[in-house]
Amino acid sequence: MNESTATPKNIVLIGFMGCGKTTVGRELQQRLGYPLVDMDQVIEERTGKSIPAIFAEAGEAAFREMETSLLKEITAQAGSERRIISTGGGIVGSEENRTLLKQLGYVVWLCAPIEVILERTSKNRNRPLLQTEDPAAKIQLLMDQRYPLYEEVAHLKLDTSGLDFSELATGILECARYFFTKQV
Ligand code: S3P
Repeated sequence: MNESTATPKNIVLIGFMGCGKTTVGRELQQRLGYPLVDMDQVIEERTGKSIPAIFAEAGEAAFREMETSLLKEITAQAGSERRIISTGGGIVGSEENRTLLKQLGYVVWLCAPIEVILERTSKNRNRPLLQTEDPAAKIQLLMDQRYPLYEEVAHLKLDTSGLDFSELATGILECARYFFTKQV
């Protein structure tokens, strides 16, 4: 990837539901002491509603608008303070969001095999897109649509199924440091 202008020194976590963004984000927060912005959590706090309630009452399109508007806000503040930003799994769906993500910092795509995602996401009901008769088929469909989009914006891809979260955080920090020191 050609970095013509310096990327802000944020670490941005992207990836499918259940890939470990929240856990890795917390581990990075502890190590670096940077604030962690969990986008879904911010949307829940601001609306006073859970993600399933937002989907049920306002619909997915309204949620996506909130997500893009928050991403714009975070990107506008991107150079002011270093942060770890954990995104929702569907953030890469719009081209506008993908452009913003690339401007935001070092983008890490966390992934895991479908069996692992299925196992992790089956533990709770807080993901409205997976409340279907056949979650495995829905996961496969969404993965097929989204994997090229994650690939498009990511600086680094890491499988979270084989390593513990501390090892993952160490890998991310080393790669991010290398990326940022290489910048002009
Ligand atoms: C979504 C993922 C969720 C949340 C919403 C939609 C998606 O976040 O933003 O349920 O479209 O994949 P997580 O990836 O943190 O589960």
